[in-house]
Amino acid sequence: MHHAALHDGAPERGGDGVLESLEAVAAGVVGYDCAKACADDIMARAVRRTTHAPLERCGSANGQEGYGMSEFAKHYGPVSLVTGASSGIGKSFAESLAAQGFDLVLVARRLERLEALAGELSSAHGIDVHVHRIDLAEGSAAQQIMDVTSSLDVGLVVSNAGTGDKGRFESGDARVMAETLMVNCNTPMLLAHGFVPRLRLRGRGGIIFTSSIEGLIGCPFSTVYSSTKGFVNSLGEGLWGELAPEGIDVLTLCPGATATDRLQGIDPATLHNVMSPDEVVRLALENIRSGPIYIPSEHYKATFDQLLSMPRAQAISAMAKRMSPGQLNQ
Ligand SMILES: NC(=O)c1ccc[n+]([C@@H]2O[C@H](COP(=O)([O-])OP(=O)(O)OC[C@H]3O[C@@H](n4cnc5c(N)ncnc54)[C@H](OP(=O)(O)O)[C@@H]3O)[C@@H](O)[C@H]2O)c1
Repeated sequence: MHHAALHDGAPERGGDGVLESLEAVAAGVVGYDCAKACADDIMARAVRRTTHAPLERCGSANGQEGYGMSEFAKHYGPVSLVTGASSGIGKSFAESLAAQGFDLVLVARRLERLEALAGELSSAHGIDVHVHRIDLAEGSAAQQIMDVTSSLDVGLVVSNAGTGDKGRFESGDARVMAETLMVNCNTPMLLAHGFVPRLRLRGRGGIIFTSSIEGLIGCPFSTVYSSTKGFVNSLGEGLWGELAPEGIDVLTLCPGATATDRLQGIDPATLHNVMSPDEVVRLALENIRSGPIYIPSEHYKATFDQLLSMPRAQAISAMAKRMSPGQLNQ
């Protein structure tokens, strides 16, 4: 059987240089004394965390290559919630986690798709799959999910559903904008608020937020979508900082172009650097401990490293030229 240790950045975080950086960064915000106390506390907890056994890659229960129950699923299982599982990246998360032996709770609006997927996955992998038609734009959506999962031991929350249009800000439909904010921000935040106490009680588990590279900077002509993903990135980073010392992994996944329905009719073959949803999910699960932010595409990682090192105004002006409606149609 093939074994390869997953990358876990935690041990490297213990160096003196990190402590100095933490102190320097925090001192700028809250003053030196408080910063020193915070940094000491963070370091002490980070060191405790390095005692976790590394996750190991191994064959899954059904013989496929994956993270077997012995490590990955034991740590993050037995149940995973996946929102937006009816297509694209969420469907790939459901398929990959099922192959690793997780029981699943799948949420989206297209119930017939969820039911078909549940049938396939439960017969292929012998797992329990619960499906729920919940509109995540509703204010009660997170509470509905908390209610339907109350008797289940959910160890991995995949807040993946997302929506949003591109185009000129003023041409957008105000109602759709408000729904985008609910689906992309409000519901993920309230889901995390509901699940964090449950994960803390277990002392292990994880949350994956599917965000976007568009959350790394304000993107002209994708202003609302990009803003919502900026919120998700900050939400995920803040929670990572709060929960990492507790043994709960928070990964904010920032895919670039991915071949799903969100490409809205554009043939992926005509675009460069498009990843498959399966590849995005494989890398996300392999790197679940590489938070807070994780960009699965090397191409987009290099692009954004460059973009974010430029003066902000210059970077945004360059993007505005690139993303203007005339350019996007080409
Ligand atoms: N594809 C890309 O290029 C790309 C790049 C970066 C980030 N992302 C992010 O990846 C995530 C998944 O998107 P995708 O690319 O896989 O697109 P997708 O195939 O369109 O999937 C979107 C999923 O979200 C669900 N969803 C949307 N609105 C919902 C609502 N109001 N209530 C419940 N579920 C809702 C959809 O289910 P129903 O329609 O059945 O409700 C669907 O399962 C999103 O957060 C997206 O922002 C995608």
